[in-house]
Amino acid sequence: MFSSPLLPIPGYPVHPMTVHFPIAFYLLGVLLTMAYLWRGQTDYERFAYWSFILSWLAALVASLTGLIDQNQLELADPRRDTVNSHITAGVALLILNGLVLYMRFRWPDVLTSRRWPYLGLMALGVAAVLVANWLGGELVYRLGVGIQ
Ligand code: HEM
Repeated sequence: MFSSPLLPIPGYPVHPMTVHFPIAFYLLGVLLTMAYLWRGQTDYERFAYWSFILSWLAALVASLTGLIDQNQLELADPRRDTVNSHITAGVALLILNGLVLYMRFRWPDVLTSRRWPYLGLMALGVAAVLVANWLGGELVYRLGVGIQ
């Protein structure tokens, strides 16, 4: 039975309701950037920037709800090891997404002037999304966090 007095909705895991947004917005930002490189339409690149802004904000919200939800586990619970790896990937995503935003903000022509470092950071962000969410799935569906 899941219950934590710190949850915004008592007894209910809120983090899973927030995790789709950083995944969707980050990957949408990457796809729109690829579409811009392919078709050269500047609108695609502008929407990619907005998508990265939204994914950073969504990752922040997901991290905060995750930090609250992890209180359901005792400090000595061995499943905390997986939670900690999951947190590392989540924080890596926040940093990488933040750097992508910073570069785009600082150099609006970043895809011309600093294309490969920018795309490299973006690709590392995709890896962080995949690892964070794979470990999230492990937590819930294999280790039963939030379920038992
Ligand atoms: C950095 C702080 C974070 C902490 C402490 C954290 C903690 C947790 C915990 C305890 C769970 C188990 C389910 C629950 O009780 O809520 C979980 C699941 C999950 N987390 Fe996180 N998380 C964090 C960040 C993130 C981020 C940034 C993402 C997405 C980019 C994410 C994606 C997921 C996913 C997909 C699941 C599985 C949800 C499901 O399928 O029901 N987490 N996380």
